[in-house]
Amino acid sequence: MGVGLDHLQGLYAQTSDPWGFEHSAYEQAKFKATRAALSQSGYRSAFELGCGNGQLARHLIDVCARYTGMDAVATALRAARQTVPQGRFVQGFYPGPLPEGDFDLLILSEVLYFLDHAGLEQLATDIAARWPQAEIICVTWRGPTGNPLEGEEALQGFAQTLTTHDFTCVTQTDDYRIDRALPGAST
Ligand SMILES: C[S@@+](CC[C@H](N)C(=O)[O-])C[C@H]1O[C@@H](n2cnc3c(N)ncnc32)[C@H](O)[C@@H]1O
Repeated sequence: MGVGLDHLQGLYAQTSDPWGFEHSAYEQAKFKATRAALSQSGYRSAFELGCGNGQLARHLIDVCARYTGMDAVATALRAARQTVPQGRFVQGFYPGPLPEGDFDLLILSEVLYFLDHAGLEQLATDIAARWPQAEIICVTWRGPTGNPLEGEEALQGFAQTLTTHDFTCVTQTDDYRIDRALPGAST
């Protein structure tokens, strides 16, 4: 089992910023590093699964002609809509339907380790079927997650299943890593 919806809603019960994204120097520096990991200066359409309160989207919005964020929790999405009014935000708990869109950038930042192995496989299958040409950015906490899967364990499971893409670690600190996946030569 991945992290359940009740648990996610509990995290946001008292605040729309449970990880302190807005004021944490660590998080803001990581958002800048995430943007720096992009291989292009502009994208047609980006999708972020587990977009939280939109603080990462704020750093990416000006390089994306369109941006769609999805999160399971309504409180997070309310904050995200205020932070990034030009974005499109949809509520959904994954695995489940993903939004329509011709996405050429997929952001999976601090979300893979909320899923379980079946969810990671489903995500890889969905991406391979619908957005095989998209660039994917994975941001992964390297410390203990407190979730059933650790960060790098989830990343590895996802990367092994997504055979359409080649993964490269572009940034690594003691705390997090950022991996970029690009379509492989045979895709
Ligand atoms: C640690 S936050 C990351 C937020 C943002 N992506 C970032 O890197 O700053 C993880 C977010 O993913 C959402 N999330 C976790 N599991 C999810 C699932 N199965 N389906 C949809 N959203 C999920 C949580 O509600 C939370 O807002």
